[in-house]
Amino acid sequence: MSEDRIIVEGGKALAGTVRVSGAKNSVLKLMAASLLASGTTTLSNTPRISDVLLMADVLRHLGANVSFDADTITIDTRTLDNYEAPYELVRKMRASTAVLGPLIVRFGEARVAMPGGCQIGSRQMDLHFSGLEAFGVEFENSHGFINARVSDVGLRGREVALGFPSVGATENLMVVAAAARGTTVIENAAREPEICDLARFLTAMGAHIQGQGSPVLTIEGTSSFSAVTGYETIGDRIEAGTFLVAGALGGGPVTVEGFNPEHLRVPLAKLEALGSQLATTEDSVTITHEGSFTPTDIQTLPYPGFPTDLQPQFMVLDALADGMCIITENIFENRFVFADELFRMGATIHIEGHHAIIEGIRRFSGAPVEASDLRAGAALVLAALNAEGSSTISEVRHIYRGYEDLTGKLQGLGASIH
Ligand code: UD1
Repeated sequence: MSEDRIIVEGGKALAGTVRVSGAKNSVLKLMAASLLASGTTTLSNTPRISDVLLMADVLRHLGANVSFDADTITIDTRTLDNYEAPYELVRKMRASTAVLGPLIVRFGEARVAMPGGCQIGSRQMDLHFSGLEAFGVEFENSHGFINARVSDVGLRGREVALGFPSVGATENLMVVAAAARGTTVIENAAREPEICDLARFLTAMGAHIQGQGSPVLTIEGTSSFSAVTGYETIGDRIEAGTFLVAGALGGGPVTVEGFNPEHLRVPLAKLEALGSQLATTEDSVTITHEGSFTPTDIQTLPYPGFPTDLQPQFMVLDALADGMCIITENIFENRFVFADELFRMGATIHIEGHHAIIEGIRRFSGAPVEASDLRAGAALVLAALNAEGSSTISEVRHIYRGYEDLTGKLQGLGASIH
């Protein structure tokens, strides 16, 4: 798979309708949370992406039976007999650490390989540990593993204030609080739509959670969880944003359906500021774009701010703007690394710390480039759609992690890509 390349002939007009798959960042957490109950869970609208296959491997390693049928995944946790997530799996996907909370609840202990560095930033786990310690979990970090064990007094609900609204920490805390004795209040909680999806799923399993979508979560603990069948994952807002950028580059009209446009409020406002026309329904957005792009500054922030996971894709639009733009990345310190690849395609980008100062060019020029991470890979494909001539994107295994059939979906819109 790592030998694969994506080849794009740039400059084709794009139009038509594309449907997004289920949200990667949601389904991975739902799969992990299914471990809370002993029974059979089914999740629909599951994307066929390599991160989902890896999470299935993590669950199998823990003793679960996992199978796929079209877009439905079935997870049988009755045979769960292991609480260790090994390094060879966690190394491939940091989101494996989402099993930490569920394993603590199910076994009273967990052994999860400490994730290493990552292409987009250092990605600490201190907020997970300090929050869970407040609930009565003891941690020891040895030989590359996080060893967690519930103290003799058991899990108890507490008031916890996060120093930063971390998505992963909010999720692990929410899962453990759902099973802790008494009431938990999590302040400065992350508010991402995927957090709300997890809260909805946990509620269906028997949890009592209030305040999802706000910075304060109040959770009343319970000891009884039951497996849920037929749960439908929300549509992937980041995949939707990626296709909307493709529509802006290719002129449109491109209709992106299968997601909630409310989840993309700030990116949609930025597309309008860039000069695109949008028509929105309950579950779709249609984009058309004529002429040049109006320079538009962007800064990434926790939800509902502009998502860091769309920053590289929007950099492609800013790199083509009629003037100068500044992008400020506030979430991950290394997320501008891919700007060097855009530079190889002719972009004029100057990086100063967490600011990218971009002087717009008229058009990219096709070149061989390399994907450094998932969203950077998608952004390079987008740049290639605009480029004069042919581009070859290598290391596309990063793209397979989070996009189901990206090339097929873009072909459906008229792109010359294979
Ligand atoms: C999740 C998403 C990822 C997205 C990110 C931010 C998944 C699988 N991944 O990642 O696609 O880009 O949210 O929206 O859902 N931090 C700490 N200490 C901690 C935890 C985080 O300092 O204990 C820092 C991180 O280093 C990073 C920032 O907080 O700089 C954001 O991290 P977080 O919100 O936790 O992101 P993830 O859950 O890793």
